[in-house]
Amino acid sequence: MCGIVGYLGDGNVYDILIKGLHRLEYRGYDSAGVALVDGNGEISVFKTKGKVSNLEAFCADKDIDARVGIAHTRWATHGEPSDSNAHPHFSGDGNIAIVHNGTIENYKLLKDALIQHGCEFHSETDTEVLAQLIEYIRVTNNCSLLAAVREALNQVVGAYAIAVVEKNDPDTIIAARQSSPLVIGIGNGEYFLASDATPFVEYTNECVYLKDGEIAEIRRGQPLKITTLDNQEAEIDITKLEMSISQLEKGGYPHFMLKEIFEQPDTLRDCIRGRVVENGTRIILNGVNDNKEKFLNAKRIIIVACGTSWHAGLLGRYLIQDMCRIPVEVEYASEFRYSKPIIYKDDVVIAISQSGETADTLAAIQIAKEAGAFVFGISNVVGSSIPRETYSGCYIHVGPEIGVASTKAFTGQVMVLTLLALSIAQLRNTMSQDKIAEVGNHILRIPDYVEKVLKLNDKIERLSLIFTYARNFLYLGRGYSYPVALEGALKLKEISYIHAEGYPAAEMKHGPIALIDQEMPTVIIAPQDHLYEKIVSNVQQVKARGGNILAIVNEGDTVISNIADHVLEVPVMPECLTPIITSVPLQLLSYYIAINKGKDVDMPRNLAKSVTVE
Ligand code: M6R
Repeated sequence: MCGIVGYLGDGNVYDILIKGLHRLEYRGYDSAGVALVDGNGEISVFKTKGKVSNLEAFCADKDIDARVGIAHTRWATHGEPSDSNAHPHFSGDGNIAIVHNGTIENYKLLKDALIQHGCEFHSETDTEVLAQLIEYIRVTNNCSLLAAVREALNQVVGAYAIAVVEKNDPDTIIAARQSSPLVIGIGNGEYFLASDATPFVEYTNECVYLKDGEIAEIRRGQPLKITTLDNQEAEIDITKLEMSISQLEKGGYPHFMLKEIFEQPDTLRDCIRGRVVENGTRIILNGVNDNKEKFLNAKRIIIVACGTSWHAGLLGRYLIQDMCRIPVEVEYASEFRYSKPIIYKDDVVIAISQSGETADTLAAIQIAKEAGAFVFGISNVVGSSIPRETYSGCYIHVGPEIGVASTKAFTGQVMVLTLLALSIAQLRNTMSQDKIAEVGNHILRIPDYVEKVLKLNDKIERLSLIFTYARNFLYLGRGYSYPVALEGALKLKEISYIHAEGYPAAEMKHGPIALIDQEMPTVIIAPQDHLYEKIVSNVQQVKARGGNILAIVNEGDTVISNIADHVLEVPVMPECLTPIITSVPLQLLSYYIAINKGKDVDMPRNLAKSVTVE
């Protein structure tokens, strides 16, 4: 939700900011803006509704010469997407400019008080309130910008990552964070600031992840200084980045989403590497090995996540219950936090998040920690908040996922959950060694199987033409294929804006069956698992009502293939591994339907990749 970039150095400020904004556009793209401080200390703010490319067009005839700058790409929270609500925001006297990611919960109270003091507002945003508050404090207390920012943040309730620049000072950026990410890149005589490290990966591999409650003073020619909200000096931990520029580019694909779908054989290889050893007979997951007691003593596992990560969590439940015989509950993090959850000290709470920054998931983690549970994180973004807030965990190692619709992160999450279940089973002796070896062996071959599934691409592209103008879709699956149905439906609706519902196939007869007619495609995920016979009946029930069926079946299937209108065949797998294989054709189907409809698949409307607000 919103991306922030800042730059202070001798490079081309505007170009660095714009390039950085493009990299962060996945975080929000309803408006964008820059604040540039030139050599005379004048601040120019250029901002406009729409994507970063609109901002570039808007700035084409502007004076963009600068010594320091901050920039923002927005996902609206307070006030509609518009030029005036776009960031950066000025203080009333135009002396400071600010960009902000997060939400100021007590902004109304602060705004009313500032209006009483004569402040006038030009936007509906909570961010402008912060800008005016900082300036009000600075003038009233006759203090430095740093002191005013600290005082203002002590009055603020909510989440923020901010960057502030000041008129007459082209040599300073003040930045701070609370519950929204911010990372400072340290170059040779230059500093970068961003919501994640992608905007500066080609300039430096040294960075500092700001922690909650920290304020950074970034000054030209001076070492970075970090203090806390109560003005204590904080330690500076320098992290070495392991990210390459090629991971952030489309690599010849028309869209990040398609690139990320096709990367899955490689990302799964990276995810498995070093974790499935001795020909698949042994699973090594350090997060489990280092915390054996916690996993041995766990009476229950609670999984918290949102969106696609929640679907991966549902699969985690099937996997852990099957393999480890531990009861598992899967909760939407957003509901969990307000449901007065009953959490025991011997619970293990697993938080799943691609970005590692989802506000609801972070809040659920906090609650679990306060209750004394052991909290384990599964994330993709190295150094993000969730890996830092959890006691242990593991990365999915699928590389930066830029398309808003999650694809390779989903299969990576499911893979890690499979490894997690296997390693707990190993620990608790709930699976025979032969069974572990059988699954482990197939895991080693999964990247090759996914490569095979991707050969269905052309067939799926052709099939997508048949379905493009459907107004509603039903996705059905049972057992391990039920979360796959949910994920397939989510993928379709978020990028093509077609209404789609995922259902457990047997539930269909309790209501959704009323919807079935020739107009509504039903996608049925029906690999040959222990529920195959059952789902055959469900397929027949849909067909008997004139439904139009697309079935995902195993190679060699003869029964469903004869009933369904269209089939896509995927390799035969042990049941617990089928979701990784069956979800890939559904990703491609959604992609092509959205493309046929002319939608922006990488940046679908109203969405953002990283949801750092409640
Ligand atoms: O970064 P997270 O995994 O925590 O994000 C959770 C959801 O916002 C995310 O999965 C969302 O549903 C995706 N757009 C799905 O494609």
